[in-house]
Amino acid sequence: MNEKNYKVLVVDDEDYIRESIEIILRTEGFEVFSVNSGFKALEVLQKNNIDVVLTDIKMPEMDGVTLLRKIKENYPVEVILITGFPSLDTAVESVKFGAYDYITKPFKVDDLINKLLKAIENKKLKREVVELNQIISIYDSSKYFANILHVDEVFNKMDDIIKINLKDNGYFVRIFTREYFKSVNLDETTKRYIFDNFNYKECLTIFSNLEYLESCLKLNGKDVNLLLLPMTSREGLWGVVGVFRDGSNTFSDIDCKVHSIYVDQFSLALLNVYSFEDLSKGYLETITALSKAVDAKDHYTMGHSENVKKYSLMIVEEMGLGDEFKETMVYAGFLHDIGKIGVPTEIIIKPDRLNDKEYEEMKKHPIYGKDILSPIEFLGDVPYYVLYHHEKLDGSGYPYGLVADEIPLGAKILHVADSYDAMTTDRSYRQRRKPELAFEELDRCTGTQFDKDIVAAFKSAMKKF
Ligand SMILES: [Fe+2]
Repeated sequence: MNEKNYKVLVVDDEDYIRESIEIILRTEGFEVFSVNSGFKALEVLQKNNIDVVLTDIKMPEMDGVTLLRKIKENYPVEVILITGFPSLDTAVESVKFGAYDYITKPFKVDDLINKLLKAIENKKLKREVVELNQIISIYDSSKYFANILHVDEVFNKMDDIIKINLKDNGYFVRIFTREYFKSVNLDETTKRYIFDNFNYKECLTIFSNLEYLESCLKLNGKDVNLLLLPMTSREGLWGVVGVFRDGSNTFSDIDCKVHSIYVDQFSLALLNVYSFEDLSKGYLETITALSKAVDAKDHYTMGHSENVKKYSLMIVEEMGLGDEFKETMVYAGFLHDIGKIGVPTEIIIKPDRLNDKEYEEMKKHPIYGKDILSPIEFLGDVPYYVLYHHEKLDGSGYPYGLVADEIPLGAKILHVADSYDAMTTDRSYRQRRKPELAFEELDRCTGTQFDKDIVAAFKSAMKKF
């Protein structure tokens, strides 16, 4: 073993003991740092990557055991205590607080060297375990990120990585291309500091020379360590992630590298999700235009999709269903008849009642609708609500003749909203009904065709309207 690679910090208030240890260790090839108090020891630890601390127990101001505790809270450093016989009990106790070992005065040089080398070996072993765990976590997160399709999930995963894997106190994400800012666990001063200092131009300058920026600042009277990492795409810098640690908890070289890997994964996952969303939105815009075209095919049904959306949302609100479901129903209401694109125009605009053959054709529109909408991942259950929006509780509906609980709630809501709008608007083959007559018809068919709770909610919502 080449001891020259190892850094030992000797802490003792008695000069002659400290100096003699220093000489012994230098002769053996260790790089030695030497101080006469616990406070000075902590300063050295903050600036240097020390492997082992060798400290006396009895010292004024800060004793060796207090120093040991402070070290163990903040640094992955092994500590060996030096003690005279009177404080042997304390030394034995201290091993319980995380000291690697203790050595009693007067000690043999061989003993000292042996204990130091064992402590160094132990530190290396612990570090290997930590590094292995980090590699496993990085591998796990890369697999996870690769399969995410929603922005919220990307951010939730990043929150976990920051808190659990990296043990940082807080972080922020600023995405320049979307004018987006998010922060976790940051106080107002820090947020303001970021806003003032890390705009696109500033970050472009920082990252033109560096992979990342690491610095220590004083914010709100607190010591804050900041690690700033770029989010890059093929086009260049598109965002920035800043990570914070409080107090003396600095970022080591390994920390910086590990953070860089996670931020690259995060950046890539977000880019994937955004491009997927842009693609989906483009597709949705196209089918929305098509849906309007369907309504326009037949001037009698103009505005029908908008009305079904409006009535569906009134029902959802009245029933107190959640926001996520409400969003689903916006799309479901608006797109429920999209499948009519696949039905021949002459059937859709026919001024008379349809004959059996034509009606069979018309009954296929929920299936066409489901096929059109299924590729759009973010629509969730919408394609299924569309598929089942003509099913009836007693099994007399189409396309599958499902009964009661087999029909999803969203489809049952669409069915009520759709039927009411059809009854209260003119058709080429009949006049519109008055709302009160349409309500009577809803009541008459409750239990066989319509769900009783949905009809009740709709009627109650319409009264307030
Ligand atoms: Fe329909």
